[in-house]
Amino acid sequence: MPAASDTTKLRPVRLFSNIRIYERIGGLYDATLGFWSREVRRQAAEALDLREDERLLIVGVGTGMELEHLPAWVRGAGVDLSAGMLRRAHRRRVDLGMRDLDLQVMDARTLDFPDEVFEAVYLPLILTVVEDGARVLAEAERVTAPGGRLVIADRFWPEGRSRPAAARAVSWALGHFAMRFDHRLSEIRAGAPSLRIEDYRKVAPGAFFHLVTLRKPG
Ligand SMILES: C[S@@+](CC[C@H](N)C(=O)[O-])C[C@H]1O[C@@H](n2cnc3c(N)ncnc32)[C@H](O)[C@@H]1O
Repeated sequence: MPAASDTTKLRPVRLFSNIRIYERIGGLYDATLGFWSREVRRQAAEALDLREDERLLIVGVGTGMELEHLPAWVRGAGVDLSAGMLRRAHRRRVDLGMRDLDLQVMDARTLDFPDEVFEAVYLPLILTVVEDGARVLAEAERVTAPGGRLVIADRFWPEGRSRPAAARAVSWALGHFAMRFDHRLSEIRAGAPSLRIEDYRKVAPGAFFHLVTLRKPG
């Protein structure tokens, strides 16, 4: 668990923040992103490859669009900073009969869980949305059991390609509304360098989404 002094050092959510946007747009969010992101959610659920005796944590569960691809018996927790997004996730969870998935308002930068309690951790479209993806990945690694896996669905900047100033500026502006697109996975992985990449693939439509499976050493 992070020390209390750690928590107070976190930068507050920005005055004009994407969290405020997410708070208001749950329905619109599902309508625009739902169909487009279906395939990456399906493949992410396959990559998680859950067993009934395992516990799953979904970091930044949002409106819960990933839930319909998971088995109804899924056990564990889904967390998000936005109560507005979580309200929709609550309705989905009830519709899907997921009685053992607990949904909570929580900051992914300071997860309120003990160390190493989840066999699988799922990070769908969160690491490039938060201001400090490396810290969120470090927290995700902390709560993952030894030998456990972390599945990331997101979009990263290519490792070998430079980032023109214009692209960085547009990405910075977009980050206030939605997500950034100029973060490299290697920069975010710096938060949890012991995690091993098991699989990295690009997913339809148009290879837009990146699906990454990481393993915590056992
Ligand atoms: C792009 S949405 C993704 C939602 C969902 N995972 C999906 O794939 O549709 C990003 C989500 O991250 C949440 N979020 C942003 N910062 C967060 C933080 N520090 N802690 C927890 N959730 C956060 C937002 O509220 C929003 O629901």
